[in-house]
Amino acid sequence: MATVSFKDASRVYPGADHPAVDKLNLTIGDGEFMVLVGPSGCGKSTSLRMLAGLEEVNSGSILIGDQDVTNLPPKDRDIAMVFQNYALYPHMTVADNMGFALKMQGVSKSERERRVGEAAKLLGLEDFLTRKPKALSGGQRQRVAMGRAIVRQPQVFLMDEPLSNLDAKLRVSTRTQIAALQQRLGVTTVYVTHDQVEAMTMGDRVAVMKDGILQQVANPLELYDTPRNLFVAGFIGSPAMNLIKGKVADGGVQVGDYVVPVEREVLARAQGDDTLTIGIRPEHLGKSDDSQGIAVDVAVVEELGADSYLYGSLAGLSEEERLAGPQIVARMTSRHPIDRSAPVRLKPTGTVHVFSNSTGERLS
Ligand SMILES: Nc1ncnc2c1ncn2[C@@H]1O[C@H](COP(=O)(O)OP(=O)(O)OP(=O)(O)O)[C@@H](O)[C@H]1O
Ligand SMILES: [Mg+2]
Repeated sequence: MATVSFKDASRVYPGADHPAVDKLNLTIGDGEFMVLVGPSGCGKSTSLRMLAGLEEVNSGSILIGDQDVTNLPPKDRDIAMVFQNYALYPHMTVADNMGFALKMQGVSKSERERRVGEAAKLLGLEDFLTRKPKALSGGQRQRVAMGRAIVRQPQVFLMDEPLSNLDAKLRVSTRTQIAALQQRLGVTTVYVTHDQVEAMTMGDRVAVMKDGILQQVANPLELYDTPRNLFVAGFIGSPAMNLIKGKVADGGVQVGDYVVPVEREVLARAQGDDTLTIGIRPEHLGKSDDSQGIAVDVAVVEELGADSYLYGSLAGLSEEERLAGPQIVARMTSRHPIDRSAPVRLKPTGTVHVFSNSTGERLS
């Protein structure tokens, strides 16, 4: 087992005008499950491939344990990778697929059988060892791909969207299995996904990237409770945080005819900005019981049984402003029907996050 450190590691693809990964600094603890998450093209796979040795590091360095691996070929890095398109060998049995890399390494037959048997037991594949891949379900094939990585007993597992070929339901059950398996094996793991729910449910810590730049790395609750900037605030959480722009006013931020209360010391940090963005999670926005609050025109109420989500837009906007403006989402706990003919008033019932519009940074 080992730690992994990226130190100012950058990758610039030939001909590109900006780095795909820009001075990445990230340390992953021994046995930790680290998830890299971010939108398509933000540099997740490139970071993983740099760690694997499949992509050149143009500046900075990468360490596994105490060893600088920046210029080491992939085979000398003691890592195992599970890709999105984990092609299994179709003509080989499950057991042979899992043991193939060991065979190439010259591991003895008895040792191979022992390790494959052990991995098959961990993965619940014991009954399938003699089958060919085409006789397996998608989820079972995915487990064989995991098995191929496990039998190598590497210092570090790298996984690049290994669940994206599975249907939604299987993805949920398999992500729980992978997280549990990683915990049992205790092998340092770097896992790439663009799905923030997967990131939040699987990772010990989550590193959020955008445009090749690391935005924030923290445990899931920290990311959720104190996103460092507007991007992380909008990316983590589903439905997303309400992000509403308003003018700085006495005691808060003006949204329509309502001043959302913000502490003075937070407002003082706005320095020169005369508008700020406030962020309120849907569960921290509730129906006001007086005439005060953010006036919202209700578009739909989504009834989910246990709770419901109210979707709307700031009241009193022109059609054009409404389309350009933020969507407002509030989680309702009551089953009281909502009158859609008149605007409702919503008030913060929990944390109000405050962000600078000029820097995007968190002020609260
Ligand atoms: N071989 C390559 N040559 C040139 N540019 C590349 C190459 N591979 C990736 N890029 C570019 O580098 C950036 C980062 O790509 P990367 O594959 O790391 O993104 P990603 O975060 O994994 O995205 P996705 O979620 O779509 O897989 C993108 O702008 C991409 O177009
Ligand atoms: Mg990718």
